[in-house]
Amino acid sequence: MRSLPLLLVCLVGCATTKAAETKPAEASAADAKPAAKKPLFERLGGKPAIEAVVDDFLGRVSQDATINSGFAVAHVPRVRQRLIELVCVGSGGPCTYSGRDMTTAHAGQGITNAQFDTLVGHLVATLDKFKVPAAEKNELLSVLGPMRPAIVEEP
Ligand code: HEM
Repeated sequence: MRSLPLLLVCLVGCATTKAAETKPAEASAADAKPAAKKPLFERLGGKPAIEAVVDDFLGRVSQDATINSGFAVAHVPRVRQRLIELVCVGSGGPCTYSGRDMTTAHAGQGITNAQFDTLVGHLVATLDKFKVPAAEKNELLSVLGPMRPAIVEEP
């Protein structure tokens, strides 16, 4: 578990270093076009890294009284699994999301924009702890951001 943050940083950072090292010094104009970007899932470090992110994130959520009341302890293993699937699928990974859609899963909870923002804040803190680079962090947040209207029930 302790090595996962390193794995996360290394898989993003080391891949970049390797690409730079293998680039020929005298590249032709045709070679100059940027290589196709790997899916976000791979750049994040794959399933182990996503699991580590979700675990750290859920740890923060469970400590936060402004949002943890709904995340009943009994639900955590199921929600954990579904969050992993959701992030995996959302980042282009080879997973299947087996949960309910976001509207159905959050219906009737009266979740506010402030609670949504708090939750995103915890996710950002987790990603910062694992030193996920800004590009990958923003990409992941832009996968989750559009879910706000389905989750928040404020008028
Ligand atoms: C980006 C924001 C969010 C994402 C991606 C997200 C994702 C999910 C997922 C994947 C599930 C499991 C769905 C299922 O059971 O099939 C879930 C359930 C749940 N979420 Fe969220 N959620 C978000 C925001 C929130 C917020 C802000 C709250 C409350 C403050 C919240 C409270 C809950 C609760 C209580 C459940 C369990 C519902 C149940 O088991 O009946 N979620 N969420």
